Amino acid sequence: MAGNWKMYKTPADTHAFFEKFKPLVADSDHCEIVICPPFPNLPAAVQEAHDQRIRIGAQNLYWGKEGAVTGEVSGFMIRAIGCTHVIVAHSERRQYFNETEADVMRKTVAALENHLTPIVCVGERLDERESNRTEAVLIEQFQGGISGLAPDHFARIVIAYEPVWAIGTGKVATPQMASEAHAVIRAQARAKFGSALADSVRILYGGSVKPDNVKSLMSEMEIDGVLVGGASLDPLSFASIVNY
Ligand code: 13P
Repeated sequence: MAGNWKMYKTPADTHAFFEKFKPLVADSDHCEIVICPPFPNLPAAVQEAHDQRIRIGAQNLYWGKEGAVTGEVSGFMIRAIGCTHVIVAHSERRQYFNETEADVMRKTVAALENHLTPIVCVGERLDERESNRTEAVLIEQFQGGISGLAPDHFARIVIAYEPVWAIGTGKVATPQMASEAHAVIRAQARAKFGSALADSVRILYGGSVKPDNVKSLMSEMEIDGVLVGGASLDPLSFASIVNY
C-alpha cells in the first residue's frame, strides 16, 4: 500500500503526518507500507519511519551516480539517506517532463543497482482509452520500459497501473477495468519472463483510490496493492486505506 505525496507538505508537515499515522498502522503487518514524500522531506520521513514497518521512497531519480547535472538527484543519494523505494515514470513525469520509455529503463536499472525497489508506472490517457488503444499502450510501455530488464532485475520491481484519466479526477477505474489492464501487463510479463516471475510481480492500481473504494479494488485477484495520491496526504484516510 503506497502513498505518493506528489508536491505537497513541508518537513514540519511530514513530522505531523507521521505522529498521527504511526499509531494507526502499528499493528498493520498484513502488507508493506510505502510513503513517497517530496525530496526535501525524505530525511524527516526516514527518521520517523526508522523503527517502523513503514518504508520511504522518492518520487523520481536520475540514473547517474553523481556529476554536473544541475537539479537532479541520483539513486545513490536516495539510497544513502535511507530510502528503499523510488517511483519511476509517473504519468506526471511522462506528461510534464517528457520522460520516454528509454528514460524509464535507465531509471529503473539505476534504482535496482542502488538497491532501491522501483515502482514503475504505466497507464493510458483518456484519448487512448476512448480510441480502444489501452492494451496497445500498455504493451508499448511494457516493451519499451520494462521488457529489456534482466530477469533478476525484473524480479525486484513493482509495477503500478495508473490510468491517466483516473488520476486526481475522482474518476476511479472500475475494479474490472483495472483488473483487465493488470492482466494485460501480467501476460506481457509471462511472455517475457515466464510464469513464476509473472505470478509474483506485484501490480498496484493507482487513480482516485479512496477509503470507500479500496476494498472493491483489492478484492480483484489481479490487484496486489494500490498507489494513492490525494488520499495519502491525510493520515486518517491513508491509514483506513492500509487497513481496509
Ligand atoms: P490520486 O490518488 O490523487 O488520483 O493520484 C494517483 C496517483 O497519481 C498516485 O501516484
